[in-house]
Amino acid sequence: MAATKTFDVAAVRADFPILARTVHGRPLVYLDNGASAQKPRCVIESLRHTYEHEYSNVHRAAHELSNATTEKFESARRTVQKFLNAPHDREVIFLRGTTEAVNLVANTYGRANLKPGDEVLVTAMEHHSNIVPWQMICEQTGARLVVAPMDHTGTLILPEFQKRLSRRTRIVSCVHVSNALGTVNPVAEMAAMARAAGAVILVDGAQAAPHMRLDVQALGVDFYAFSGHKAFGPTGIGALWGRAELLEAMPPWQGGGEMIRSVTFEKTTYNTIPHRFEAGTPNIADAIALGAALNYVMELGHDAIEAHEHDLMAYASAQLGAIKGLKIIGTAQRKAGVISFVLDGIHAADAGMILDEQGIAVRVGQHCAEPVMAFFGVPATIRASFAFYNTRTEVDALVKGIRKVQELFR
Ligand code: ALA
Repeated sequence: MAATKTFDVAAVRADFPILARTVHGRPLVYLDNGASAQKPRCVIESLRHTYEHEYSNVHRAAHELSNATTEKFESARRTVQKFLNAPHDREVIFLRGTTEAVNLVANTYGRANLKPGDEVLVTAMEHHSNIVPWQMICEQTGARLVVAPMDHTGTLILPEFQKRLSRRTRIVSCVHVSNALGTVNPVAEMAAMARAAGAVILVDGAQAAPHMRLDVQALGVDFYAFSGHKAFGPTGIGALWGRAELLEAMPPWQGGGEMIRSVTFEKTTYNTIPHRFEAGTPNIADAIALGAALNYVMELGHDAIEAHEHDLMAYASAQLGAIKGLKIIGTAQRKAGVISFVLDGIHAADAGMILDEQGIAVRVGQHCAEPVMAFFGVPATIRASFAFYNTRTEVDALVKGIRKVQELFR
Protein backbone atom coordinates (compact mmCIF):
# COMPACT_ATOMS: atom_id res chain seq x y z
CA MET A 1 0.00 0.00 0.00
CA ALA A 2 1.42 3.35 -1.05
CA ALA A 3 -0.47 5.57 1.39
CA THR A 4 1.27 6.84 4.53
CA LYS A 5 0.12 8.02 7.96
CA THR A 6 0.61 11.69 6.93
CA PHE A 7 -2.28 11.16 4.54
CA ASP A 8 -1.07 11.52 1.02
CA VAL A 9 -4.42 11.72 -0.74
CA ALA A 10 -2.91 11.09 -4.19
CA ALA A 11 -1.36 7.85 -2.92
CA VAL A 12 -4.63 6.87 -1.26
CA ARG A 13 -6.53 7.50 -4.50
CA ALA A 14 -4.07 5.26 -6.35
CA ASP A 15 -5.20 2.42 -4.07
CA PHE A 16 -8.76 2.71 -5.52
CA PRO A 17 -8.67 1.61 -9.18
CA ILE A 18 -12.16 2.88 -10.02
CA LEU A 19 -11.25 6.48 -9.16
CA ALA A 20 -9.10 6.61 -12.30
CA ARG A 21 -12.04 6.08 -14.66
CA THR A 22 -13.99 8.65 -16.58
CA VAL A 23 -17.77 9.10 -16.77
CA HIS A 24 -19.31 10.70 -19.86
CA GLY A 25 -15.75 11.56 -20.94
CA ARG A 26 -15.00 13.44 -17.70
CA PRO A 27 -12.89 12.36 -14.73
CA LEU A 28 -15.13 10.63 -12.20
CA VAL A 29 -15.92 12.82 -9.19
CA TYR A 30 -17.44 10.30 -6.82
CA LEU A 31 -19.47 12.05 -4.13
CA ASP A 32 -21.99 9.31 -3.43
CA ASN A 33 -20.03 7.60 -0.69
CA GLY A 34 -22.96 7.73 1.72
CA ALA A 35 -24.79 5.32 -0.57
CA SER A 36 -21.79 3.06 -1.08
CA ALA A 37 -18.05 3.62 -0.96
CA GLN A 38 -15.46 2.48 -3.50
CA LYS A 39 -13.08 -0.40 -2.82
CA PRO A 40 -9.31 -0.34 -2.41
CA ARG A 41 -7.22 -2.82 -4.38
CA CYS A 42 -6.53 -4.89 -1.23
CA VAL A 43 -10.28 -5.63 -0.93
CA ILE A 44 -10.60 -6.60 -4.59
CA GLU A 45 -7.48 -8.76 -4.27
CA SER A 46 -8.76 -10.36 -1.08
CA LEU A 47 -11.91 -11.54 -2.90
CA ARG A 48 -9.87 -12.89 -5.78
CA HIS A 49 -7.38 -14.58 -3.44
CA THR A 50 -10.09 -16.30 -1.44
CA TYR A 51 -11.83 -17.74 -4.50
CA GLU A 52 -8.58 -18.65 -6.27
CA HIS A 53 -6.67 -20.12 -3.35
CA GLU A 54 -8.49 -20.50 -0.07
CA TYR A 55 -12.16 -21.06 -0.61
CA SER A 56 -14.22 -23.64 1.24
CA ASN A 57 -17.08 -23.65 3.69
CA VAL A 58 -16.23 -22.69 7.28
CA HIS A 59 -16.62 -24.43 10.66
CA ARG A 60 -17.85 -27.59 8.96
CA ALA A 61 -14.93 -29.81 7.99
CA ALA A 62 -11.57 -31.10 9.10
CA HIS A 63 -9.85 -30.69 5.72
CA GLU A 64 -6.98 -28.29 5.13
CA LEU A 65 -8.88 -25.85 2.95
CA SER A 66 -11.76 -25.53 5.37
CA ASN A 67 -9.36 -24.98 8.26
CA ALA A 68 -7.55 -22.24 6.37
CA THR A 69 -10.78 -20.50 5.33
CA THR A 70 -12.20 -20.79 8.84
CA GLU A 71 -9.07 -19.16 10.25
CA LYS A 72 -9.35 -16.27 7.74
CA PHE A 73 -13.06 -15.84 8.47
CA GLU A 74 -12.51 -15.79 12.24
CA SER A 75 -9.54 -13.48 11.80
CA ALA A 76 -11.89 -11.04 9.99
CA ARG A 77 -14.18 -11.24 13.02
CA ARG A 78 -11.23 -10.25 15.23
CA THR A 79 -10.52 -7.34 12.87
CA VAL A 80 -14.10 -6.10 13.34
CA GLN A 81 -13.61 -6.50 17.10
CA LYS A 82 -10.47 -4.33 16.89
CA PHE A 83 -12.18 -1.78 14.61
CA LEU A 84 -14.97 -1.33 17.19
CA ASN A 85 -12.69 -1.81 20.22
CA ALA A 86 -15.10 -4.52 21.35
CA PRO A 87 -14.15 -6.58 24.40
CA HIS A 88 -14.68 -10.03 22.78
CA ASP A 89 -14.70 -11.39 19.24
CA ARG A 90 -17.64 -13.68 20.05
CA GLU A 91 -19.73 -10.51 20.41
CA VAL A 92 -19.34 -9.77 16.68
CA ILE A 93 -22.04 -11.23 14.41
CA PHE A 94 -21.61 -11.18 10.66
CA LEU A 95 -24.78 -10.12 8.84
CA ARG A 96 -25.71 -8.56 5.52
CA GLY A 97 -25.47 -5.03 6.89
CA THR A 98 -26.97 -2.45 9.21
CA THR A 99 -30.55 -3.08 8.08
CA GLU A 100 -30.31 -6.75 8.91
CA ALA A 101 -28.67 -5.93 12.24
CA VAL A 102 -31.55 -3.66 13.32
CA ASN A 103 -34.04 -6.29 12.21
CA LEU A 104 -32.17 -8.94 14.21
CA VAL A 105 -32.21 -6.89 17.43
CA ALA A 106 -35.85 -5.89 16.94
CA ASN A 107 -36.91 -9.50 16.34
CA THR A 108 -34.86 -11.07 19.13
CA TYR A 109 -34.18 -8.61 21.95
CA GLY A 110 -37.23 -6.55 21.00
CA ARG A 111 -39.67 -9.42 20.70
CA ALA A 112 -38.45 -10.96 23.97
CA ASN A 113 -38.50 -7.76 26.01
CA LEU A 114 -41.28 -5.50 24.68
CA LYS A 115 -44.80 -5.69 26.07
CA PRO A 116 -47.87 -3.47 25.75
CA GLY A 117 -47.17 0.00 27.15
CA ASP A 118 -43.38 -0.23 26.65
CA GLU A 119 -41.61 2.28 24.45
CA VAL A 120 -38.88 2.29 21.83
CA LEU A 121 -37.18 5.67 21.48
CA VAL A 122 -35.67 6.78 18.17
CA THR A 123 -34.64 10.21 16.87
CA ALA A 124 -36.30 12.36 14.22
CA MET A 125 -33.34 11.87 11.86
CA GLU A 126 -33.45 8.09 11.45
CA HIS A 127 -33.04 6.22 8.19
CA HIS A 128 -36.09 4.11 7.32
CA SER A 129 -34.14 1.02 8.37
CA ASN A 130 -34.11 2.29 11.95
CA ILE A 131 -37.81 3.15 11.93
CA VAL A 132 -39.67 0.40 10.09
CA PRO A 133 -38.29 -2.67 11.96
CA TRP A 134 -39.33 -0.98 15.24
CA GLN A 135 -42.77 -0.09 13.90
CA MET A 136 -43.22 -3.72 12.89
CA ILE A 137 -42.17 -5.09 16.27
CA CYS A 138 -44.20 -2.45 18.15
CA GLU A 139 -47.27 -3.52 16.19
CA GLN A 140 -46.67 -7.13 17.18
CA THR A 141 -45.90 -6.51 20.86
CA GLY A 142 -48.16 -3.56 21.71
CA ALA A 143 -45.17 -1.30 22.41
CA ARG A 144 -45.07 2.31 21.20
CA LEU A 145 -42.54 4.12 19.00
CA VAL A 146 -41.50 7.48 20.48
CA VAL A 147 -39.52 10.08 18.54
CA ALA A 148 -37.02 12.57 20.01
CA PRO A 149 -37.10 15.79 17.97
CA MET A 150 -34.31 17.76 16.27
CA ASP A 151 -34.05 21.51 15.77
CA HIS A 152 -33.95 23.50 12.52
CA THR A 153 -30.19 22.85 12.14
CA GLY A 154 -30.74 19.09 12.23
CA THR A 155 -29.32 18.78 15.76
CA LEU A 156 -30.95 16.42 18.23
CA ILE A 157 -32.53 18.38 21.09
CA LEU A 158 -30.86 16.49 23.93
CA PRO A 159 -33.16 17.72 26.76
CA GLU A 160 -36.15 16.57 24.67
CA PHE A 161 -34.46 13.20 24.17
CA GLN A 162 -33.94 12.97 27.93
CA LYS A 163 -37.54 13.96 28.58
CA ARG A 164 -38.79 11.07 26.46
CA LEU A 165 -36.80 8.52 28.44
CA SER A 166 -38.79 6.91 31.21
CA ARG A 167 -39.27 3.57 32.90
CA ARG A 168 -41.41 2.61 29.93
CA THR A 169 -38.44 2.99 27.56
CA ARG A 170 -37.01 -0.47 26.94
CA ILE A 171 -34.91 0.27 23.85
CA VAL A 172 -33.25 3.36 22.39
CA SER A 173 -32.22 2.99 18.75
CA CYS A 174 -30.44 5.94 17.21
CA VAL A 175 -28.28 6.87 14.30
CA HIS A 176 -24.67 7.85 14.98
CA VAL A 177 -24.31 9.99 11.83
CA SER A 178 -27.41 11.00 9.87
CA ASN A 179 -27.26 9.82 6.25
CA ALA A 180 -29.47 12.69 5.08
CA LEU A 181 -27.97 15.57 7.12
CA GLY A 182 -24.50 14.49 8.26
CA THR A 183 -25.31 15.33 11.90
CA VAL A 184 -23.10 13.49 14.41
CA ASN A 185 -25.17 12.55 17.43
CA PRO A 186 -23.73 12.69 20.98
CA VAL A 187 -23.99 8.93 21.35
CA ALA A 188 -21.97 8.62 24.57
CA GLU A 189 -24.27 11.11 26.34
CA MET A 190 -27.36 9.44 24.89
CA ALA A 191 -26.08 6.04 26.04
CA ALA A 192 -25.50 7.32 29.58
CA MET A 193 -29.04 8.75 29.66
CA ALA A 194 -30.52 5.51 28.26
CA ARG A 195 -28.65 3.44 30.84
CA ALA A 196 -29.84 5.68 33.68
CA ALA A 197 -33.41 5.08 32.47
CA GLY A 198 -32.84 1.31 32.40
CA ALA A 199 -33.02 1.03 28.60
CA VAL A 200 -30.58 -0.62 26.20
CA ILE A 201 -29.22 1.39 23.29
CA LEU A 202 -28.55 0.25 19.72
CA VAL A 203 -26.55 2.54 17.44
CA ASP A 204 -26.86 2.57 13.65
CA GLY A 205 -23.26 3.25 12.70
CA ALA A 206 -23.65 2.87 8.93
CA GLN A 207 -22.53 6.44 8.19
CA ALA A 208 -20.10 6.71 11.10
CA ALA A 209 -17.91 3.68 10.39
CA PRO A 210 -16.41 5.18 7.18
CA HIS A 211 -15.40 8.42 8.91
CA MET A 212 -14.42 8.08 12.55
CA ARG A 213 -12.67 5.98 15.15
CA LEU A 214 -15.26 3.81 16.86
CA ASP A 215 -15.04 2.55 20.42
CA VAL A 216 -18.13 0.78 21.68
CA GLN A 217 -16.70 0.62 25.21
CA ALA A 218 -16.01 4.37 25.38
CA LEU A 219 -19.43 5.08 23.85
CA GLY A 220 -21.05 2.87 26.50
CA VAL A 221 -23.58 1.40 24.06
CA ASP A 222 -25.18 -2.06 24.07
CA PHE A 223 -25.40 -2.80 20.33
CA TYR A 224 -23.56 -1.22 17.41
CA ALA A 225 -24.23 -2.01 13.74
CA PHE A 226 -22.47 -1.06 10.52
CA SER A 227 -22.36 -2.04 6.85
CA GLY A 228 -19.24 -3.23 5.08
CA HIS A 229 -19.98 -1.65 1.72
CA LYS A 230 -20.01 1.90 3.11
CA ALA A 231 -16.75 1.21 4.95
CA PHE A 232 -14.80 0.30 1.77
CA GLY A 233 -15.62 -3.41 2.00
CA PRO A 234 -17.86 -5.56 -0.22
CA THR A 235 -21.65 -5.38 -0.42
CA GLY A 236 -23.73 -7.97 1.41
CA ILE A 237 -21.61 -8.06 4.55
CA GLY A 238 -21.77 -6.06 7.77
CA ALA A 239 -21.61 -6.63 11.48
CA LEU A 240 -23.59 -6.30 14.65
CA TRP A 241 -21.72 -5.99 17.91
CA GLY A 242 -23.64 -6.62 21.11
CA ARG A 243 -22.68 -7.01 24.75
CA ALA A 244 -22.16 -10.72 25.43
CA GLU A 245 -24.62 -10.94 28.30
CA LEU A 246 -27.37 -9.46 26.12
CA LEU A 247 -26.60 -11.64 23.09
CA GLU A 248 -26.40 -14.75 25.27
CA ALA A 249 -29.84 -14.06 26.73
CA MET A 250 -31.46 -13.34 23.35
CA PRO A 251 -33.49 -16.00 21.59
CA PRO A 252 -32.19 -16.98 18.16
CA TRP A 253 -33.67 -15.37 15.04
CA GLN A 254 -33.19 -17.45 11.91
CA GLY A 255 -33.05 -21.22 12.29
CA GLY A 256 -30.80 -23.54 10.32
CA GLY A 257 -27.35 -25.05 10.23
CA GLU A 258 -24.52 -23.66 12.36
CA MET A 259 -26.83 -21.94 14.86
CA ILE A 260 -27.65 -25.24 16.60
CA ARG A 261 -25.88 -27.45 19.13
CA SER A 262 -28.07 -30.50 18.59
CA VAL A 263 -31.25 -31.24 16.66
CA THR A 264 -33.83 -33.97 17.06
CA PHE A 265 -37.40 -33.90 15.78
CA GLU A 266 -38.46 -33.39 19.38
CA LYS A 267 -36.09 -30.66 20.47
CA THR A 268 -33.28 -28.42 19.28
CA THR A 269 -30.64 -26.78 21.44
CA TYR A 270 -28.75 -23.75 20.23
CA ASN A 271 -25.12 -22.91 19.63
CA THR A 272 -23.15 -20.32 21.58
CA ILE A 273 -22.69 -16.76 20.29
CA PRO A 274 -21.86 -15.58 17.69
CA HIS A 275 -22.79 -18.73 15.74
CA ARG A 276 -26.28 -18.83 17.26
CA PHE A 277 -27.08 -15.76 15.14
CA GLU A 278 -25.35 -16.93 11.95
CA ALA A 279 -27.72 -19.55 10.52
CA GLY A 280 -26.66 -21.07 7.22
CA THR A 281 -23.41 -20.73 5.31
CA PRO A 282 -22.15 -17.22 6.01
CA ASN A 283 -20.87 -14.72 3.47
CA ILE A 284 -17.33 -16.07 3.74
CA ALA A 285 -15.30 -14.28 1.07
CA ASP A 286 -16.98 -10.93 1.70
CA ALA A 287 -16.39 -11.18 5.46
CA ILE A 288 -12.70 -11.85 4.82
CA ALA A 289 -12.56 -8.90 2.40
CA LEU A 290 -14.33 -6.70 4.97
CA GLY A 291 -11.44 -7.54 7.29
CA ALA A 292 -9.04 -6.35 4.57
CA ALA A 293 -11.01 -3.09 4.20
CA LEU A 294 -11.02 -2.35 7.93
CA ASN A 295 -7.31 -3.16 8.22
CA TYR A 296 -6.68 -0.76 5.34
CA VAL A 297 -8.63 2.01 7.10
CA MET A 298 -6.90 1.38 10.44
CA GLU A 299 -3.53 1.43 8.70
CA LEU A 300 -4.30 4.80 7.13
CA GLY A 301 -5.01 5.96 10.68
CA HIS A 302 -8.12 7.59 12.03
CA ASP A 303 -6.35 10.77 13.12
CA ALA A 304 -5.12 11.35 9.58
CA ILE A 305 -8.49 10.43 8.03
CA GLU A 306 -10.45 12.67 10.37
CA ALA A 307 -8.11 15.64 9.83
CA HIS A 308 -8.37 15.30 6.05
CA GLU A 309 -12.15 14.93 6.10
CA HIS A 310 -12.55 17.79 8.55
CA ASP A 311 -10.70 20.06 6.14
CA LEU A 312 -12.75 18.77 3.21
CA MET A 313 -16.08 19.28 4.99
CA ALA A 314 -15.13 22.82 6.09
CA TYR A 315 -13.98 23.71 2.57
CA ALA A 316 -17.05 22.20 0.90
CA SER A 317 -19.46 23.82 3.37
CA ALA A 318 -17.88 27.24 2.76
CA GLN A 319 -17.78 26.85 -1.05
CA LEU A 320 -21.32 25.51 -1.35
CA GLY A 321 -22.63 27.95 1.25
CA ALA A 322 -21.36 30.84 -0.88
CA ILE A 323 -23.48 29.86 -3.92
CA LYS A 324 -26.51 32.10 -4.32
CA GLY A 325 -29.75 30.13 -4.55
CA LEU A 326 -28.26 27.11 -2.72
CA LYS A 327 -29.49 26.19 0.74
CA ILE A 328 -27.71 23.63 2.88
CA ILE A 329 -30.14 21.31 4.69
CA GLY A 330 -28.58 20.29 7.98
CA THR A 331 -26.22 22.76 9.59
CA ALA A 332 -25.41 21.04 12.88
CA GLN A 333 -22.16 21.96 14.65
CA ARG A 334 -20.85 18.42 14.37
CA LYS A 335 -21.19 16.86 10.93
CA ALA A 336 -19.41 14.07 9.13
CA GLY A 337 -19.23 13.11 5.48
CA VAL A 338 -22.51 14.55 4.22
CA ILE A 339 -23.66 17.88 2.79
CA SER A 340 -27.29 17.95 1.64
CA PHE A 341 -28.66 20.94 -0.20
CA VAL A 342 -31.46 22.27 -2.37
CA LEU A 343 -31.32 24.73 -5.28
CA ASP A 344 -33.93 27.45 -5.67
CA GLY A 345 -36.42 26.57 -8.42
CA ILE A 346 -34.55 23.43 -9.55
CA HIS A 347 -35.67 19.90 -8.84
CA ALA A 348 -33.01 17.72 -7.24
CA ALA A 349 -33.48 15.01 -9.89
CA ASP A 350 -32.72 17.50 -12.71
CA ALA A 351 -29.64 18.74 -10.88
CA GLY A 352 -28.45 15.17 -10.37
CA MET A 353 -28.76 14.42 -14.07
CA ILE A 354 -26.83 17.50 -15.15
CA LEU A 355 -24.11 16.85 -12.58
CA ASP A 356 -23.85 13.27 -13.84
CA GLU A 357 -23.25 14.55 -17.38
CA GLN A 358 -20.20 16.27 -15.92
CA GLY A 359 -18.92 13.06 -14.32
CA ILE A 360 -20.11 14.06 -10.84
CA ALA A 361 -21.92 11.34 -8.88
CA VAL A 362 -24.22 12.55 -6.09
CA ARG A 363 -27.41 11.10 -4.66
CA VAL A 364 -30.67 12.95 -5.14
CA GLY A 365 -34.00 12.15 -3.52
CA GLN A 366 -35.28 11.39 -0.04
CA HIS A 367 -32.27 9.30 1.01
CA CYS A 368 -34.49 6.67 2.70
CA ALA A 369 -35.33 9.35 5.28
CA GLU A 370 -38.79 10.64 4.38
CA PRO A 371 -39.47 12.03 7.89
CA VAL A 372 -36.30 14.16 7.61
CA MET A 373 -37.46 15.59 4.27
CA ALA A 374 -40.92 16.26 5.74
CA PHE A 375 -39.39 18.06 8.74
CA PHE A 376 -37.40 20.39 6.50
CA GLY A 377 -40.35 20.81 4.13
CA VAL A 378 -38.45 19.70 1.03
CA PRO A 379 -39.43 16.93 -1.39
CA ALA A 380 -35.82 15.88 -1.94
CA THR A 381 -32.25 17.07 -1.56
CA ILE A 382 -29.04 16.80 -3.53
CA ARG A 383 -26.53 15.02 -1.32
CA ALA A 384 -22.75 15.20 -1.72
CA SER A 385 -21.19 12.58 0.53
CA PHE A 386 -17.46 12.38 0.99
CA ALA A 387 -14.81 9.78 1.73
CA PHE A 388 -11.16 10.21 2.68
CA TYR A 389 -10.12 9.86 -0.97
CA ASN A 390 -12.03 12.99 -2.03
CA THR A 391 -10.17 16.24 -2.63
CA ARG A 392 -10.68 20.00 -2.64
CA THR A 393 -10.32 19.83 -6.44
CA GLU A 394 -13.39 17.60 -6.53
CA VAL A 395 -15.29 20.07 -4.36
CA ASP A 396 -14.34 22.76 -6.92
CA ALA A 397 -15.68 20.52 -9.69
CA LEU A 398 -18.96 20.15 -7.79
CA VAL A 399 -19.23 23.92 -7.33
CA LYS A 400 -18.60 24.42 -11.07
CA GLY A 401 -21.17 21.74 -11.83
CA ILE A 402 -23.80 23.40 -9.67
CA ARG A 403 -23.18 26.75 -11.37
CA LYS A 404 -23.75 25.03 -14.72
CA VAL A 405 -27.03 23.56 -13.42
CA GLN A 406 -28.13 27.03 -12.30
CA GLU A 407 -27.16 28.57 -15.67
CA LEU A 408 -29.24 25.99 -17.54
CA PHE A 409 -32.29 26.83 -15.42
CA ARG A 410 -31.86 30.59 -15.47
N1 ALA B 1 -28.44 4.35 3.19
C1 ALA B 1 -27.75 4.67 1.98
C2 ALA B 1 -27.76 6.14 1.68
O1 ALA B 1 -27.89 6.94 2.56
C3 ALA B 1 -28.19 3.85 0.84
O2 ALA B 1 -27.63 6.50 0.53
